[in-house]
Amino acid sequence: MNQPQRYLVTAALPYANGPLHIGHIGGAYLPSDIYVRYLKANQRDVAFICGSDEHGAAITLRAKKEGKTPREIVDHYHLMMKKAFEDFGIRFDIYHRTSSPEHHEMSREIFLDLLKKNSFETETSLQYYDEEAKQFLADRYIIGTCPNCSSDRAYGDQCENCGTALSPLELIKPLSTLSGSAPVLKETTHWYLPMAQHETCIRNFIENGTLNGVQHHDPREWKAHVLGQCMSWINGGLQSRAMTRDLDWGVPVPVEGAEGKVLYVWLDAPIGYITNTKVWADKNGKNWEDYWKKEDTRLIHFIGKDNIVFHCIIFPIILHQHGEFILPQNVPANEFMNLEGDKISTSRNWAVWLHEYLEEFPGRQDEMRYVLCSIMPEQRDSEFTWADYRDRVNNELADILGNFVNRVFVLTHKYYNGSVPPVNPDVLTEADRQARVEGISSFENTGKKIEEFRFREALSEAMNLARIGNKYLTETEPWKLIKTDPERTAIIMNYCLQLVADLSGALAPFLPFTAEKIRRGLCLEDIFWNDAIKKDQLPEGHIIGQLPILFEKISDETVAQQMAKLEASKAVTAATSKEVKEVIDFEFFQKVDIRMARIVEAEKMPKTKKLLKLKVDIGSECRTVVSGIAEHYSPEEIVGKTVLFLANLAPREIKGVKSEGMILMAENATGVLSIISPEKEMNAGDEVR
Ligand code: 2FM
Ligand code: ZN
Repeated sequence: MNQPQRYLVTAALPYANGPLHIGHIGGAYLPSDIYVRYLKANQRDVAFICGSDEHGAAITLRAKKEGKTPREIVDHYHLMMKKAFEDFGIRFDIYHRTSSPEHHEMSREIFLDLLKKNSFETETSLQYYDEEAKQFLADRYIIGTCPNCSSDRAYGDQCENCGTALSPLELIKPLSTLSGSAPVLKETTHWYLPMAQHETCIRNFIENGTLNGVQHHDPREWKAHVLGQCMSWINGGLQSRAMTRDLDWGVPVPVEGAEGKVLYVWLDAPIGYITNTKVWADKNGKNWEDYWKKEDTRLIHFIGKDNIVFHCIIFPIILHQHGEFILPQNVPANEFMNLEGDKISTSRNWAVWLHEYLEEFPGRQDEMRYVLCSIMPEQRDSEFTWADYRDRVNNELADILGNFVNRVFVLTHKYYNGSVPPVNPDVLTEADRQARVEGISSFENTGKKIEEFRFREALSEAMNLARIGNKYLTETEPWKLIKTDPERTAIIMNYCLQLVADLSGALAPFLPFTAEKIRRGLCLEDIFWNDAIKKDQLPEGHIIGQLPILFEKISDETVAQQMAKLEASKAVTAATSKEVKEVIDFEFFQKVDIRMARIVEAEKMPKTKKLLKLKVDIGSECRTVVSGIAEHYSPEEIVGKTVLFLANLAPREIKGVKSEGMILMAENATGVLSIISPEKEMNAGDEVR
């Protein structure tokens, strides 16, 4: 393909049902932002499109869990995510929403167009219906026993215990999570995309990069894991997929008699890319159709690996069926980023949340951008750890980049009052030439690697400019040479300054905040990428300004604090996700004698750390009890307290003392014990039921 006229770059529309974490950022948003910043630095015509995905069961479930409406949920998270992206320096041209009227209109139009072209088949099937809640149940609204591992908490689409993909009909003893009742099977009609009809076309597109017999892209430029996932899907046989759902939140199906049905979220979400382009274009005097319908536009989707099939197979089929739209030139999906040895999980709160990072590390966006780019899961899953974050910030950003730039500023001010010194070509040495040539070559390679979606290597190439500079300074020692050879010193400092200027250009897509600080320090305007490579950016006699501190080191204490925060969330999750024990019936419960009791005497058991010997008034009599609470309560503080008591527990002998019954205690996730006292005045012997 010739040089494209324009680029349409999309980043997966995140569900507006929870905050963003570093896995999202490293997966799709940071690479797309780097790519777009680079394209814009090259004066290319680019639209960078994102927005929140505000429909689907993910949203309605969240709303239900929080006792809110779906509208309240998406309004809250849309604003929160938009702000976090902006603050982190992810510069979308538009961040719109799929619940907007513009999007409903666009989705309706495209659906009706496809309907006219007979792209869908309707099919009536039996699906679970909750008669109490009066609605059909989306997969995640049904829970039951897994036919594979017998876990009684499998969902209608997947068992989270054994990972098996399921359909609701496979669940044993299904229950509705809306009302808790057993759902019934009821007939419902939906619109299906008959994927099998498009198998040859999509196989050619993925395997050979051809479309309608014409070369569309070079599949060798696609990532191996993306092609692999697509081919295994295609080879597994493409099944028809329902493009509508029975749900009351989404884009209503624009067909008479389809009340209560909405477009499947995975149909309307990618259409969101089109809507958002149109909204952006309308506001900016552009024509959205140039970006979606002209063959000389390069469409690139940035996504995480869980979205590959939708972006490489299902959405292209829809675009192709529609007939007027272009198809993606590449889908450089990333794999997953793990955190401290475990999968990132929103429900388990095992994450580094972007909004929290921004609050706790103000002004340190580039530190996180740097680390996330360095460990980006481009070919395989990767892992973020706080210790690695500290090491990369301290050893690479502070010691290599910050140190080089700072030394050059300090020496330039010291020897030349901040004025760029001259280069006398007659006294240039091989070392000088080499430093300059290597610097330019790293700058060029940075761009090449970005165009190949190899962001880790690209960042390393950009950082090479600082490495080259440090080595050059260390080897030539201008602080010694200044006394003996001022002409060479001037050359060295001039070349180092050019390296710093080039660094600010090469690093700008990755570390925009730092690049800006350096350029401001150099008193340099922004220039375009290729111009920066072609010429010396700093003319002789140019006066530079002051450089702020670029990077502060990260302390071990900061790492420890972040680890403690993660551990604490793990403990809370462990407690809140504790499974309920086996069900007992009421008769069984009635056999248990729980009552109020008053502690009348308490003493430590000799030669033990944990045990107290207590005398307890249980109303009808006084009992002796041995209780393992000595590490939580002293005898003095517990005497006189009214507590919960299990009176009909079989007596046990503990360290030679007969213990008759048990004080009931609450225990939190970190093992802290608390007695449970009544809220109102109660007497010893009062029944608990
Ligand atoms: O996985 C997700 O978070 C989806 N909301 C991504 C949608 S991408 C696109 F299709 F809009
Ligand atoms: Zn299972």
